[in-house]
Amino acid sequence: MIISQDIEQARAKITHWRSLSKQVALVPTMGNLHQGHLALIQQAQSLADYVVVSIFINPLQFGPSEDLAAYPRTLAQDTEKLTQLGVDLLFQPTELLMYPAGKQATTLVTAPVGWSDVLCGAGRQGHFTGVTTIVCKLFHILPVHVAVFGEKDFQQWLIIKKMVEDLNLPIEIMSHATVREPDGLAMSSRNQYLSETQRRIAPLLYQSLLSVANYLQSRRGGYQHKIDQETQGLIQQGFDVEYFSVHSMATLSEWDGAKEEDIRLFIAARLGRTRLIDNIAV
Ligand code: PAJ
Repeated sequence: MIISQDIEQARAKITHWRSLSKQVALVPTMGNLHQGHLALIQQAQSLADYVVVSIFINPLQFGPSEDLAAYPRTLAQDTEKLTQLGVDLLFQPTELLMYPAGKQATTLVTAPVGWSDVLCGAGRQGHFTGVTTIVCKLFHILPVHVAVFGEKDFQQWLIIKKMVEDLNLPIEIMSHATVREPDGLAMSSRNQYLSETQRRIAPLLYQSLLSVANYLQSRRGGYQHKIDQETQGLIQQGFDVEYFSVHSMATLSEWDGAKEEDIRLFIAARLGRTRLIDNIAV
């Protein structure tokens, strides 16, 4: 595996592969790779001849009171996993390379109102601007054909798809289903912050999603009451629920309870200091 911290080197490698008529796929990550990331990489390998993975803990997408300093940094283990998987190129830039003038002094890419300011965007101001800005930069630095994102962060995936459409970027955006622990908890680098007790109750988040989704599959009326009941149950178990709502899968707008459209259930909650998110299709 080629490991590069150099924009020109990484771009030249991909340009060379493209000149041989090979397909190239990208999986952007912040490292601390788990089975969820590895599933995305395997999907990328099935889609393309060459796979590029980026590891960059993007300071621009963390709020001032968020876990940037504590975010797990495990580059040696990550590199080992990527080598074993047969990844072709690891792009692992420094903060100085990505934001040479500092993150306050960079041009930003922002999704419109209704996309970046709802769900996770409501509680994490500026978060999605940090995401779209870095992903847009990565797409320019690494001229791949296709990029793969996880449905665990469904809002992020949808916002990136919209950015690519709106900015006419020549790249296809694919998604991979959420990879879960055997007890249903969505895999996440942040799960390791959980205490033993918190880890034991964390799967209740997914159980609540399933319970509301089941309800919605058989009837539509009264679903808000069902969500309220589930939310109360979670609060009693010690969760601090940030949102639990039903949204259009195409536009993220909140479902009105009647319109015939593909809908998805979204939840975010804190257990102690750890913020967990999950979502499922209905
Ligand atoms: P990170 O949290 O490292 O996630 C990298 C990719 O892995 C994202 O597309 C995310 O949705 C996916 N992923 C994480 N956990 C998953 C799971 N349990 N199942 C399936 N996919 C999962 O998301 C980011 O990094 C950053 O915001 C990034 C896009 C790299 C921009 O900085």
